[in-house]
Amino acid sequence: MTSRTTSLETRRRLLRWMATSPLLSALGASAALGLRTAMADDEPVASAAEALNVFDLEAAMRARVSPAHFVYMAQGSDASEMLAVNRKGFESIQLRPRRLVDVTDVDMSVELFGRRYASPIALAPCGAQAAFHPEGEVAVARAAKAKDALQILSTVTNFSVEDVTAARGAPVWFQLYPANDWNITRRIIKRAEDAGSPVLVFTVDLAARNLEQIARFDRDANPACRGCHEPGYEASMRKKAMFDGVNLSGMTIGIDGLTWDYVYRLRDATSMKLLIKGIVTAEDAERCIERGADGIVVSNHGGRADVTGRSSIESLREVLDAVRGRVPVLVDSGFRRGTDVFKALALGARAVCIGRPYLWGLGAFGQEGVERALDILTRELRIVMRQMGTPTLADVTPRSLYL
Ligand code: FNR
Repeated sequence: MTSRTTSLETRRRLLRWMATSPLLSALGASAALGLRTAMADDEPVASAAEALNVFDLEAAMRARVSPAHFVYMAQGSDASEMLAVNRKGFESIQLRPRRLVDVTDVDMSVELFGRRYASPIALAPCGAQAAFHPEGEVAVARAAKAKDALQILSTVTNFSVEDVTAARGAPVWFQLYPANDWNITRRIIKRAEDAGSPVLVFTVDLAARNLEQIARFDRDANPACRGCHEPGYEASMRKKAMFDGVNLSGMTIGIDGLTWDYVYRLRDATSMKLLIKGIVTAEDAERCIERGADGIVVSNHGGRADVTGRSSIESLREVLDAVRGRVPVLVDSGFRRGTDVFKALALGARAVCIGRPYLWGLGAFGQEGVERALDILTRELRIVMRQMGTPTLADVTPRSLYL
């Protein structure tokens, strides 16, 4: 097969996948209603500045990044149905605007574990960002620095916590997937600690999952991939900077048989604040608190973990009811608009993390694209805060919602 036919075949696979994606059908439905989203018949924007909403960045990324890498980013579990579920969840909550409030100055700054950030919109941990732009997590760090945003770095980052911290000019939070060897896990935690990370985010929602979309690209067999990727798990882990110098033979991340006792183990192993990411039920929220977690991230991994049919914003309500303000609760999965962010904050979330929207910016325009994604969402949030008559985050309460 020539490289041209390989690339045509790869694009065909992307189109086939798009045709069956519930997410894209959901976007198609909103386009049919006349709402402005970046759809296939629009020319993708040529610069970050031209993007009017985060969907414009998605279309621009799709035009620039290899189809396999685009699908790796876009996919959810099974047929990606949770992506549409996450979006739909926002529809059941309506806003209650109050009039004639002075909203000349809007303050959306938020305090998280002793540090104030310009806005409550943070960058969720996403692995392997060099797949989207050569500068990967370092470009994201520069954007986070420019916008004073919180960045959470994944365990499976292409750039090390030391390089990312230097580019951010301040410590980042570090997300943990434990390795099957405790010594390796401890070494990674120590590196994050030594780099000054104040918070360790332990992700617990990947006991098993079915990512069949990317399997269609079969990296080990696909000639288009083999130019860059050596086959096999060990080879892929060699590209992950936090595993430099680690004996990778037999090493895996994600441990079978992981239980709540592991939280005690982490608690004892580090003085960093400990957050648990991937919590969606009241019972598990209670367990987090019992075991000394300092905070919770409500998340269904952007629809890349279990296929529950329940959106992240619905899970947020259940978790907040159980937590009753004892620890800060953050949330992610499906946030694409300022109104989405507002709804979560009004329910009681301390901050909202975004995943794909900043990866769209990264894949399309590098650092500038990530900055644009943050600018778009903070601008939209500022507009909603003004419309709702809530000039500070303290004013954003359940009174701003019809539930
Ligand atoms: C992720 N996510 C993720 N989460 C995590 O804890 N560690 C990780 O390494 C990754 N990697 C990752 C890669 C990619 C490509 C995506 C899209 C997501 C999940 C991420 O932190 C977050 O929960 C979701 O991305 C939030 O949903 P949205 O905003 O993408 O809908």
